[in-house]
Amino acid sequence: MKKKLKGSTELIKMENFLAVDDKVDIHSKNFEKIMFIYSVAIKEIKNKLEIMQDEFKVLYNYELIDHINYRIKKPESIEAKMKKKNLRLQYRDMINEINDIAGIRVVCPLKKDIFSIKEFIKNIPGIHILKEKDYVNNPKKSGYSSYHIIAEVPVSLSSKFMYVKVEIQIRTMAMDFWASLEHKLKYKSKEKVTNATSKELVSCAKIVQKLDKKMMLLNN
Ligand code: GTP
Ligand code: MG
Repeated sequence: MKKKLKGSTELIKMENFLAVDDKVDIHSKNFEKIMFIYSVAIKEIKNKLEIMQDEFKVLYNYELIDHINYRIKKPESIEAKMKKKNLRLQYRDMINEINDIAGIRVVCPLKKDIFSIKEFIKNIPGIHILKEKDYVNNPKKSGYSSYHIIAEVPVSLSSKFMYVKVEIQIRTMAMDFWASLEHKLKYKSKEKVTNATSKELVSCAKIVQKLDKKMMLLNN
């Protein structure tokens, strides 16, 4: 379905942007074009979040957001994830099934800020919320805690307009500290972590939860 929006800007589905039945080739021009679209989506949402950060600083003298990180998934990681998920190596599956090609992380001082930020994100005009996962109230078995949103962000080019998926992770500075250390231990170290280490990490995550609770009380 193609819809005219304003002037000559036409709403197209991302999968109609190019030959989606083609095999994913990370060295091709097609791949570069798709990655460009994801990078625009990141720019759009990053801009909105930075405005939110400045708005709270300037208008309300409140540090709502400590910092924002973002990344485009590495081509090799996209391929690996597609294989792991038993997907066909076609652009259609890549676009439809891999939700974290564009990823942005919002890190805030206090736990309550997470829920304010996610509400502000949901109110951004034009954004579509596809999925939400609350690992703050329901931490993962690993101890991981964050609020996840899969959203579609409007991306407008000179004569095309489309919605592009972005994964947004919202977490406190303490949660971020835990997650980056745990990630380094589990994914970056050559040896597999032992059960004892996993248990220690869960126990550290509980300390992080306590810390976040105390920081909230102090703030009150
Ligand atoms: P993928 O893990 O991306 O395949 O998708 P999923 O459907 O399992 O999504 P989920 O929302 O659980 O996780 C998405 C992202 O959150 C991951 O890619 C990581 O960046 C982060 N994440 C999830 N679980 C953990 C964890 O146990 N430790 C750390 N450090 N990060 C995690
Ligand atoms: Mg991921």
